[in-house]
Amino acid sequence: MIELGVNIDHVATLREARKGKVPDVITAAKVCEIAGAHQITVHLRQDRRHIQDKDVERLKEVLLIRMNLEMAGVPEIIEIAHRIVPYTVCLVPENRQEITTEGGLNVVEQKESLRRVVGGMHERGIKVSMFVDPDIEQIHASAEIGADSVELHTGAYANAEREQVDKELNRLYEAGKVAVQLGLALHAGHGLTVRNLEPVTKIPGLKEVNIGHDIISRSIFIGLDSAVKEILAVLEKVSSL
Ligand code: PXP
Repeated sequence: MIELGVNIDHVATLREARKGKVPDVITAAKVCEIAGAHQITVHLRQDRRHIQDKDVERLKEVLLIRMNLEMAGVPEIIEIAHRIVPYTVCLVPENRQEITTEGGLNVVEQKESLRRVVGGMHERGIKVSMFVDPDIEQIHASAEIGADSVELHTGAYANAEREQVDKELNRLYEAGKVAVQLGLALHAGHGLTVRNLEPVTKIPGLKEVNIGHDIISRSIFIGLDSAVKEILAVLEKVSSL
C-alpha cells in the first residue's frame, strides 16, 4: 500500500496564532497515528512560523510511527536534525517570504553541499529525501549524491487548469519512472487533496504521499480522524486493484 505521511504544520499554525498551547500538535499526531497514518511530517522552518523545536523533540519521544522532518539544508537546522534523529529528513528549498514551499530543491546547482548534508545524515542513520520538481535532471542529481528517495512536487499538478492536468500528470509519471529506475524510493506531495489524489496514486512505484493542508482543513468540519481515514481509503483502493 502507498503510505501516508500527515503533515501537521497547520495545527501548529493555529496554535501560533495565539502563541498558546492549543491545538496541541502532539495530540494531533497521535490522532493521525491511531487513524492509521504511517508517518508524521513536520517542517521546522528557520522562521519557526509554525512548528517549534520542542514539537520536534516531543514528537520524537512519543510517536510510534515514523517522523519525517522537512528542512532547509542550513547549519542550524542540520544540527537539530543530527541531535533529534528523525527517521527521515526531506530537504526542501526555503524562502522566508513564501507562504508555503514554492518549488522543488535545485539539487543540480547545489550538488556538492547537498552531498555533504546527505553524508552527515547517513552517518547518523537518517534517511534523506529530496523534494524536487518532476524534472529528470534533478532526479539524476539526487541519485548521484546518494539520496534514498525523492519526493516529487505535485504542486503544479494540483494547481493545473483542466487542459494542463494531464500534462502535469505525465511529467510526474515520467519523472517517477526515472526515479524508480535509479533505485530511489518514490514519494509525492504538496497540494494533494482527497479529490485530486487518485491519479497520483497510479504513478508506478509510488511508495508514499505527504499531505497536510487538505487534511487539516477538512478536519475542522469532519474531524481529524475522518480526514485521515478518507485519504487512507483512496490509497487502499489503489492497493486492492
Ligand atoms: N511535502 C513537502 C516537501 C512540503 O513542503 C509540504 C508542505 O509543507 C507538503 C508535502 C504538504 O503540502 P500540503 O500542505 O499542500 O499538503
